[in-house]
Amino acid sequence: VADVTCNLTEYELRAVDAPLNVADGHARQPLTASQQEIVDRFPDLFEEATTRSLEEVEYIAHDTFFRALGQRSAPYARGQVLTSYASSVSMDVVARCLAERGAVVGLIHPTFDNIPDLLRARGVQLVPVSESALRSGELPGSLGIGDAVFVTVPNNPTGGILDADDLRRLAEACRSRQMLLALDTSFRGFDCRVQYDFYELLDACGCDYVVIEDTGKLWPFLELKLGFIACSDSLKRPLAKAHSDVLLSASPFVMRVVTELARDAVAGGFDEMRQLIARNRAIIDASMADVGCRQPFPDSRVSVTLVGVPGRNASVVSASLAERGVHVLRCEPFFWDQRRIGEQYVRVALARESSAIEQVADELREVCAESLHLRDAEVVR
Ligand SMILES: Cc1ncc(COP(=O)(O)O)c(C=O)c1O
Repeated sequence: VADVTCNLTEYELRAVDAPLNVADGHARQPLTASQQEIVDRFPDLFEEATTRSLEEVEYIAHDTFFRALGQRSAPYARGQVLTSYASSVSMDVVARCLAERGAVVGLIHPTFDNIPDLLRARGVQLVPVSESALRSGELPGSLGIGDAVFVTVPNNPTGGILDADDLRRLAEACRSRQMLLALDTSFRGFDCRVQYDFYELLDACGCDYVVIEDTGKLWPFLELKLGFIACSDSLKRPLAKAHSDVLLSASPFVMRVVTELARDAVAGGFDEMRQLIARNRAIIDASMADVGCRQPFPDSRVSVTLVGVPGRNASVVSASLAERGVHVLRCEPFFWDQRRIGEQYVRVALARESSAIEQVADELREVCAESLHLRDAEVVR
């Protein structure tokens, strides 16, 4: 496959079995002691998933997961949360509904490329909206009644967020223009600044909304994960219909596992995870600072970080690193409307053992130093 046609997942797949794979943003750090205890209890969890009703198992999973992330007002008790195998499945269901409404979607730029890809595959027309425009509630003039705005918050790969004032402004702008607000909060667990109660705010504002929530980025559980679609009352019926076209139900066993992981997260697991990510981010930042490269998005708390290498583009840097056995992700596809902007960055996944991140940081430092040296030599010439 020619490089230019690759999506991010194809790049990630090339690295999936490499010893130093920091390409995909899935959690791949070792299990904590209490997560290992959950694995040890799998036979019991399986048994419980078999004997209890699906309704009960699913309700408890929703209640535990949403509360763990500060989302007490999530509408699971009102039947407005749908569970699927993964957030991409949730995304596809949402994309179908947006296509059926004939909505044009103002989509955050940059963001993970399977969001624009799934929307386009369903025939949805997209308009890029920058993170700063979304924060100030400035929506493109071309969007109007029945259209939608889609925001990834925190964003992948920048870590950009909306605080409560930003979200209120955006929700009010959507309500006043009779537009739908769609959010993907897959990385919420990494950033306490977006664990205020979104649903309380959105319901109080009265806008139509749909939120894709995700357990998949948080725990190193070999893709045992769930995606959720939470929505305002107005969207309950069309989303339930589209969801039922795809699946009967996600696995109740995975729901039991997610429940236990969410309980463990509240009992210290999230703190431990955020400390690991902060430590790993500091390791990469320090190595880049050694060669005079500044972190381009210093406020990010998500489990990936962008590295900008002056004078070299992402494909060259990622190829040099791959020759050294380090697999990072080049970033052009995140910039789904203006790929060239992404040429200046590679993305490093941080949900890994710190010893692996130390090795990545050493190689990155050398490749950056070489690049800077080459650039300076070119300037002198
Ligand atoms: C913001 C965001 N949403 C959704 C997904 C899709 O997740 P999954 O592959 O678990 O369905 C990703 C994948 O990285 C993502 O970054």
